Amino acid sequence: MKKTLVLKVNPKKPDEKKIRKAAEIIVKGGLVAFPTETVYGLGADALNPKAILALFKAKKRPLDNPPIIHVSNLKEVYRLVMEVSSKAKKLMEKFWPGPLTLIFNRSKVVPDVTVAGLETIAIRMPKHNVALTLIRESGCPIAAPSANTAGKPSPTTAQHVLEDLEGLIDVVLDAGPTRIGVESTVLDLTVDPPLILRPGGVVLEKLREILDDVELHPVAIAEKELWVKKARSPGLRHKHYAPNAEVIVVEGDISAIVRKVKVILKDYREKGSKVGVLATDETSDCYVADVVKSLGSRKNLKVVAKNLFKLLREFDKEDVDVIVAEGVPLRGLGLAVMNRLRKASGYKIIKAEA
Ligand code: TXA
Ligand code: MG
Repeated sequence: MKKTLVLKVNPKKPDEKKIRKAAEIIVKGGLVAFPTETVYGLGADALNPKAILALFKAKKRPLDNPPIIHVSNLKEVYRLVMEVSSKAKKLMEKFWPGPLTLIFNRSKVVPDVTVAGLETIAIRMPKHNVALTLIRESGCPIAAPSANTAGKPSPTTAQHVLEDLEGLIDVVLDAGPTRIGVESTVLDLTVDPPLILRPGGVVLEKLREILDDVELHPVAIAEKELWVKKARSPGLRHKHYAPNAEVIVVEGDISAIVRKVKVILKDYREKGSKVGVLATDETSDCYVADVVKSLGSRKNLKVVAKNLFKLLREFDKEDVDVIVAEGVPLRGLGLAVMNRLRKASGYKIIKAEA
């Protein structure tokens, strides 16, 4: 057990001394959790195999699921990859820094363990002062999966990081809650047309404005667990985002959802289960349950995305047996939200008929 140091930093004007201290720890092979615009990441020197192994161990992450490599300038990308296509250049220019991760064919500079033995590498430039300063001060690309125990909801505050990783990592840079709340979009550029492996902070509609053609991997928005012989994104195969309680997602139009959720609630309460509802502002008054939480207004999917992981973690504290979650529309950030919710439910999805 080590002592995890919590360093508070102002996201607008980060204290360089504190970040330098964290950077020194990265350089020595240590583990530093830091905020990005999406979720908190757990950082290690991407070029140091020992540090990467420690990273996997702290997160209890399977070794076949590589982390995203975070850079602070474009020069780093050219070092880490075989080739930067014109499409990649366009995307980096438009969306970086920002919540878009690009998959390239990797160069030999990258240790095998960092990419889980793959010939490809996932890279992004985060849009957060603290993250960018940390990478710059470390002088190396930083491998950073989300800073949660594997399988748990991703952390959107330093407190969430500590819940999972206190005593297992060296430092948490605490700059308050993250702005977006769901992870980056993962876009595979090693195939044509480019393929979205994970919907996230840069929405499909925005990618379509830049790319003539872009596809959504069926697994990225699967309604049931698809068996993928060689899933392109190893993370797609693993259990994800799951709170302790069982999660059920109810999808359909809103009045049908409310009716269906009420029936499910009655069933579970009759069985004596402690039940939570993940509702929205428009519907939260409709339910009788042990705990009802609202993600925010259905009209504002940005707020819904921002609250999602936080509320899933809150339900764990309430010790509910089951969480009945309302589905939201599959547009904009709703696509990322539904991807997370469906996975969190282990694909226990109920279609509410109108
Ligand atoms: O917003 C984010 O992306 C956050 C913050 C910290 O930057 N990071 C994050 O990392 O969500 P992680 O490791 O939890 O998720 C990375 C995803 C996983 O699903 C992984 O399988 C996939 O990216 N991935 C990584 N390398 C890949 C590769 N070479 N090919 C395909 N998928 C890859
Ligand atoms: Mg993750």
